[in-house]
Amino acid sequence: MSKPYSHASTHTPSSSSEARFLHLQSANNSLIVQLDPVPAIVYWGSQFNRDHALSQEMFDAPVGQARLDSHIPLALCPEQGRGDFGSPGIEGHRNGKDWGPVFQLTAVTDSLSSATLTLSDPRAALEINIYLELDEDTDVLMLKQQLINIGCNNYTVNRFALTLPFDETFSDIITFHGRWSHEFQTQRTPLEHSGFIQENRRGRTSHESFPGIIALPPSSNDLTGDVLGMHFGWSGNHRLQARVKSDGRRYLQAEALLAPGEVVLAPCESFETPTMYAVFTSHGLNSMMQKFHQYVRSSVLHFPQSMVRPVHFNTWEGMYFDHQPQRIMDMASAVARLGVERFILDDGWFLNRDGETRALGDWRVDKRKYPDGLKPVVDHINQLGMEFGLWVEPEMVSKDSIVFREHPDWMLGLDTLGYTQPSGRYQYVLDLQNLDAYHYLLVSLDTLLTEHNIAYLKWDMNRELVQAGHALSAAYHGQTLALYKLIDDLKARHPYVEIESCASGGGRIDYEVLKRTHRFWTSDCNDALERQTIQHGMQYFFPPEVMGSHIGPRQSHTTRRCHDMSFRGITALFGHMGAELDPVGLEDNELRAFARYIGLHKQYRPLLHHGNCFNLPSHDPNTRIHGVTDDTVTLLAVAQLAMPKYAQGGRLRLPVLCPDKRYRIDILDAPSAFSSTMKHKPAWMVKPLTFQGDQLIRIGLSLPIMDPESAMLLSFTLV
Ligand code: DGJ
Repeated sequence: MSKPYSHASTHTPSSSSEARFLHLQSANNSLIVQLDPVPAIVYWGSQFNRDHALSQEMFDAPVGQARLDSHIPLALCPEQGRGDFGSPGIEGHRNGKDWGPVFQLTAVTDSLSSATLTLSDPRAALEINIYLELDEDTDVLMLKQQLINIGCNNYTVNRFALTLPFDETFSDIITFHGRWSHEFQTQRTPLEHSGFIQENRRGRTSHESFPGIIALPPSSNDLTGDVLGMHFGWSGNHRLQARVKSDGRRYLQAEALLAPGEVVLAPCESFETPTMYAVFTSHGLNSMMQKFHQYVRSSVLHFPQSMVRPVHFNTWEGMYFDHQPQRIMDMASAVARLGVERFILDDGWFLNRDGETRALGDWRVDKRKYPDGLKPVVDHINQLGMEFGLWVEPEMVSKDSIVFREHPDWMLGLDTLGYTQPSGRYQYVLDLQNLDAYHYLLVSLDTLLTEHNIAYLKWDMNRELVQAGHALSAAYHGQTLALYKLIDDLKARHPYVEIESCASGGGRIDYEVLKRTHRFWTSDCNDALERQTIQHGMQYFFPPEVMGSHIGPRQSHTTRRCHDMSFRGITALFGHMGAELDPVGLEDNELRAFARYIGLHKQYRPLLHHGNCFNLPSHDPNTRIHGVTDDTVTLLAVAQLAMPKYAQGGRLRLPVLCPDKRYRIDILDAPSAFSSTMKHKPAWMVKPLTFQGDQLIRIGLSLPIMDPESAMLLSFTLV
């Protein structure tokens, strides 16, 4: 018989040979941790009754020939020394010794939804705390670990990883890859043997390797089936793995990827992993996405849900480095008339910043460009009823800058050893663990925020870390922690200033940076076609209100593609909307169109920023159908990304509606080209009609014939 632990209790495990279990629960799920011989998650899935004791026999496994003589559990912290041949949870040494620790559970503290497990190996003089917490409402699991050096000399940490097993039937994984202007590309592949590994060594979350993996059975899709989604909340180097053991057991592993000698624990010092966030659901990818969104809204973001996110205008693609106060004020007047609510002055405002090769680090207003400072511009913007935001890139330094000339030693690197590191965008990185550099930045930013009425900072980071040395030791990890501290310290001084996390677009998008910022610049690519894919990938983990999404000019600056206003407007509508172009001199019809999409965004903003997002299947892989719903209104976009595969658009079925309710369909926006793609439109497109929910769910409606790179916006309203 097992003895489930009682709630909110602290235990010292007995030496009894009986197996003991923890049964944690959240709204829909149960998570079972078997405590002996070493803590291991043996079940995470749909909830079952915790009143009945679990028996060890249920988990007893056969032992095959030519293997170790006992079954080795897949532990929360797998140990080579215990006989686990997979990827260990801990690797390190003490001057070449204490490299193979085997831990014993020494204490457990648990409640209905959380547990802290303490493990110790006195021979290696190491202790581990494993923290497990289920968010009771959203089912999100948070997993984190701490390693403590209880010895009397230094312990070098090579690896310290979080391990999450998943079911053998989950033989597909969805992973994320990309590059600048092409972030969050998804890849769904079978996971049969061996495994998948993703290493990010770029020193920021990166465009290339978003730290997330989704594992699922091949039959699972947006609407149905089991899904396990995992995100590793960390803005630095990482290693993610999805592994299949030779016996078929599977697990995800996530860790901060450490450079040699980067983490050395002195006696009594500890090292913490970042947090792994995971969701299990048996209702498909939409359910996983909605749970992550709810969790971000309730537990990651420090942004009151009652606050409205203003529509942005950003100057970057409208004027780049060509800053002229009068021109900026003209831009502000023009965009205020369109309904913009916050004006962000991008790169180019500070001392000698005439192009990308110089001046980073000199965070003072350039009096050549702004003889009277920024105040007249800010005042003008405020008088128009808009908030003012300012671009900064605090972690960076140009060699052609006053700060670098005065403090070359503030640069992150190994230059004193004679190495030459490559520049990135002609710039270098300030060593945030250098206290003088750190203090200089904090004071510079504090002064800017104190002297100007700044509601918003766009915090950019435009290069990767190479040879990141602090006092000659590797400093990738420490630099990331110091960045968090810098933002935290600044926020403590200016709690009401909102911050956007940008890194050449989507190079720093993760939950840990979002804890201290408010939205992301999703991508430098404002091309609506590219944005459809980027936003789709990002939205698995992030709700639309943190996804900066701008309407750009007709011709995209990053791809040279041209798109009509409708495709651009509908695409930007489903995020945190903004505009980014030179509005002065735009033709009246283009200006009216901008105002219209901004108006639509404001009209539906409460729904867009608080509703439940979903994706729907289509018979055409080039058709993306997605939307957002609350109890009364469903807003839906149908985007045709490439030439339709078939002559007919297929059927639109809406399982997100209530079967016993009736809905009116309105076409809020459609491409003007519809008149040439169809001689006859489906009846529901000609006049507003109402339909019964169960019929829309089961039978659905014929979709129109659409041109490539066009979109249509519909609403379904309860009648
Ligand atoms: C990269 C950002 O992603 C752009 O939006 C812009 O802010 C530039 N940096 C400015 O240098």
